[in-house]
Amino acid sequence: MTGTMEGIGHNSNWKRDFHHRNNSWDATHSSSSSSSSSSSLVNKNERLPHSFGPQRDFKKSKLTRETYREIHERVLQHFGKKFSFDPSLHTWQLPEPDEMFATDDWQEDRLQHMKEALNAVKSKLNDYNLGDWHKHTRAMNMAAYILKAVKNRCQAEFVTQAWCKFYEIVATYDLVPESANTDGCFNSLHLCEAPGAFIAALNHYLKLNKHLSWKWLSTTLNPYYEGNPLSCMINDDRFILHTLENWTFGADFTGNLMDTSNFKHILKESQKMGDVLLVTADGSIDCQENPGEQEHIVSALHYCEAVTALHALAAGGSFLLKIFTIYEHDTICLLYLLCCAFKHVNIYKPATSKEGNSEVYVVCLEYIGSELMEPWLKILRQHYGEEKQQKAMFPRQLIPDSFIRRVFECAEKFKNLQVAVIERNIAVFEGIDQPFEFNWKLRDMVTEHYIEHCKLTKLKDDDYIVGKHKLMETVALNVGPKNEEGSFNDRCKKRKLDPSEQLRVLQDEVTNLEIKWPFEDEDIKWLTFQQKLLKKFSIRIGKPIHTVESSKFCMGPLLGMHNQVGFIKPHKQDCAVIFCGYRSGSHTLLSCIEDIANEMGRLDKEGLKQAVLALVPISVLCGYEQEEIDETQPGSDVRQEDQSEEKINVDIDFHRCVTHINNLCVKERIIHVVNAVL
Ligand SMILES: C[S@@+](CC[C@H](N)C(=O)[O-])C[C@H]1O[C@@H](n2cnc3c(N)ncnc32)[C@H](O)[C@@H]1O
Repeated sequence: MTGTMEGIGHNSNWKRDFHHRNNSWDATHSSSSSSSSSSSLVNKNERLPHSFGPQRDFKKSKLTRETYREIHERVLQHFGKKFSFDPSLHTWQLPEPDEMFATDDWQEDRLQHMKEALNAVKSKLNDYNLGDWHKHTRAMNMAAYILKAVKNRCQAEFVTQAWCKFYEIVATYDLVPESANTDGCFNSLHLCEAPGAFIAALNHYLKLNKHLSWKWLSTTLNPYYEGNPLSCMINDDRFILHTLENWTFGADFTGNLMDTSNFKHILKESQKMGDVLLVTADGSIDCQENPGEQEHIVSALHYCEAVTALHALAAGGSFLLKIFTIYEHDTICLLYLLCCAFKHVNIYKPATSKEGNSEVYVVCLEYIGSELMEPWLKILRQHYGEEKQQKAMFPRQLIPDSFIRRVFECAEKFKNLQVAVIERNIAVFEGIDQPFEFNWKLRDMVTEHYIEHCKLTKLKDDDYIVGKHKLMETVALNVGPKNEEGSFNDRCKKRKLDPSEQLRVLQDEVTNLEIKWPFEDEDIKWLTFQQKLLKKFSIRIGKPIHTVESSKFCMGPLLGMHNQVGFIKPHKQDCAVIFCGYRSGSHTLLSCIEDIANEMGRLDKEGLKQAVLALVPISVLCGYEQEEIDETQPGSDVRQEDQSEEKINVDIDFHRCVTHINNLCVKERIIHVVNAVL
């Protein structure tokens, strides 16, 4: 899933949801197939660029000492995408708090020209079929073997692209401050962190390199809050499901960091750990509607992440923030704020970050502390929220030119790197250029360099957070098939289709989704109510849900299609849920029902804009919650075995049954409505 998080070029969104027919390859390439350049760009039998072909041919070429040196040089360059702001070498100071948000927004022409130049190069990709383009860039990616090597050789848990990026960063910069080593304690807070790979990577790093007592808390858009749109989340909760006690989803259960009450709630929760010495913030927002304005779109989220970190961190702490480009006043001011609040600020593009996208990480070390920052934090709190600021955080004339010059250098450096990669990828895709002859060796050496630089080895069995096998066995029934067909321009055209054409596209898509009743030889699946569920009964309240945008119990793409139609009540339903054997005598059940009624009454009476959202923790519904066993009791070992049997039953029967029934019903409703309208 995380493979889709960082796109390339103009389609540089971390999350995509494409429902396109694959017509752009033919449209773009077959029409030009008579030209000599296009005939050279394809393999003999398949109509695909050279980069898709087997690498065996290249291995025949001889590797001379000179070539080896060249490869070595390229490897070092690949790991050297760094820029330092060196605040300690300057006399940069924050403007007076009352100067903040007092002047209109401003622009730097030089940075705006860079933005235009970069967007012009990115937009050359607008007609490429996304699936083909991704296949091509994967084939060109120097770091392509790293993920597999970490998985196989280091047996790490929950390895994703994000895992590899974080490990590289923590192995390159001292994110764990020296004071943690002295005290033997280390607490970290992770913002915008689903699906959780940074945490798994940090655990691996700490277990291999430090002997610390580590506590962590994490927050993200809640994958179990059904009002959160899938387009804003990563549909993978395997790690979260097993570590729920370490996650907080704020005061309203949405997990939205940009909500002020959630911000306060998260700070309160993180304070319970003690001094927080590391905050990571990896937030991103789907920009596929307007990819050229990625920086603008994410700026409010980045502001909230940084402000949360400045409040949560103890003096001396580290902050890691993902950003994209640095062309607008929001990012320039935010960077200036960070440069005045930390002793060291570095910008790093990990070798494992896809080279064609704009993502870079701001690595901030040695925080001066919230006490010193309080006069500015007070103003920052007043401007916290989802709304994009109309005013600039600082007036341009109060930011030193020496800082702005460093911004130019930094922005230029990363723009040039990105443009060079995109141009090169296009040239190879179009057959104008050949892939590097020794790509295979380059990839091997990049992988070896990574493993060596990170000093990566295996963990001891009991050092994992969840455990590889447990994670692998965790089912994610709501994840739909990935669809990368069509190009960026195809998607734009699709949005402009008239409603009946849109419905026809939808009809095609939904009919092609393969969903069927999974219990082939049984027409009815009987589930037995498990009394033990009541032991876990706990009412969860939060922001009311008006539209179900995502669900652990329904396939994601299907819900997306469902929400595209204005629904008419369907007349025909083939699935039904039958409840038999009412337990009128269950005392516990009755008292639970009474609690629900009381809670709803209270919310109503107190006029709270909150609703009852859940009655049993999600881990219980999915069958992953262990019952506490009193080990002093005779036979507890036997009951533990029984329990794992029971656990599997709940998982397979309940979760699977509910999800499949939802999928079937939703699919049928969509087809019914679309057919009725067309
Ligand atoms: C790139 S992913 C993070 C990956 C993560 N660091 C990992 O290692 O697995 C970005 C995350 O930001 C989250 N996010 C986006 N907007 C958010 C918001 N307003 N509040 C909280 N989380 C948000 C998304 O749900 C997504 O999980």
